[in-house]
Amino acid sequence: MESLYGGATHRRVTISDLAEAKKRGEKWPMLTSYEQMSASIFDEAGIPVLLVGDSAGNNFLGFENTIPVTVNEMIPLVRAVVLASKRAMVVADLPFGSYEESVEQALATAIRFFKEAGAMAVKIEGARIAHVEKLVAAGIPVMGHLGFTPQSLHQLGGYKVQGRTDGDAIVEAALALEKAGAFAVVLELVPAELSARITKALSIPTIGIGAGVDCDSQVLVWTDLMGITKNPPKLAKAYRNLRSEMIDATKEWAGDVAASRFPSTEQSFK
Ligand code: KIV
Repeated sequence: MESLYGGATHRRVTISDLAEAKKRGEKWPMLTSYEQMSASIFDEAGIPVLLVGDSAGNNFLGFENTIPVTVNEMIPLVRAVVLASKRAMVVADLPFGSYEESVEQALATAIRFFKEAGAMAVKIEGARIAHVEKLVAAGIPVMGHLGFTPQSLHQLGGYKVQGRTDGDAIVEAALALEKAGAFAVVLELVPAELSARITKALSIPTIGIGAGVDCDSQVLVWTDLMGITKNPPKLAKAYRNLRSEMIDATKEWAGDVAASRFPSTEQSFK
């Protein structure tokens, strides 16, 4: 695959393609997706990696944060994203409560995402070194996630930048994840200088979200990118304002219904 972004479309992107991109110094984008419409759009746009994040909890299922979402709720979402895409590598997030008890619990959860939903990799929050080793030994590619880890929201005391005073601990954790076999690591809400340091130290790609421009990749929650989220976080940039576009379209159609302008003869049948 000559380029990760918008490259060859005859096969799925693999972790080897991501490793090659790191060697070439090529940056690439990752987006969340939770259902078939956004998945097929982002796949067509050439996004190489789609993450069915546990942010489905607050961006798709209506919870306040990522903590309540369950494996049973996420499996149909992952399956929809896999079925609607042809080229993207689809990564399933292990939700809170689905891996913490033991490495065996993590393996059982990851296997469900692989067998029941067709996921091609999983993501796990925190420096869970033994978990990563267990999954990788079973043939399951693992993406790490360090810095602000939303499942530990209450432990961390809110949505706060991590590593301002203990940056070395995050560097060590990232190196340990790489050694354990992780193929990439998300850095969330980490000072830009620290993530640049981690990106240099690692031979696997770093994926930033609120972590500065020097990461190998950037990830955004898709509803933030499109301006659908009502109160987006500071780390996000809306490239469109689909929320107001959709409200306008809805009102226009509702007005046409009220005024008997919809359906016209074009949408009617003899
Ligand atoms: O669940 C999610 O969307 C994530 C990304 C923000 C990295 O974990």
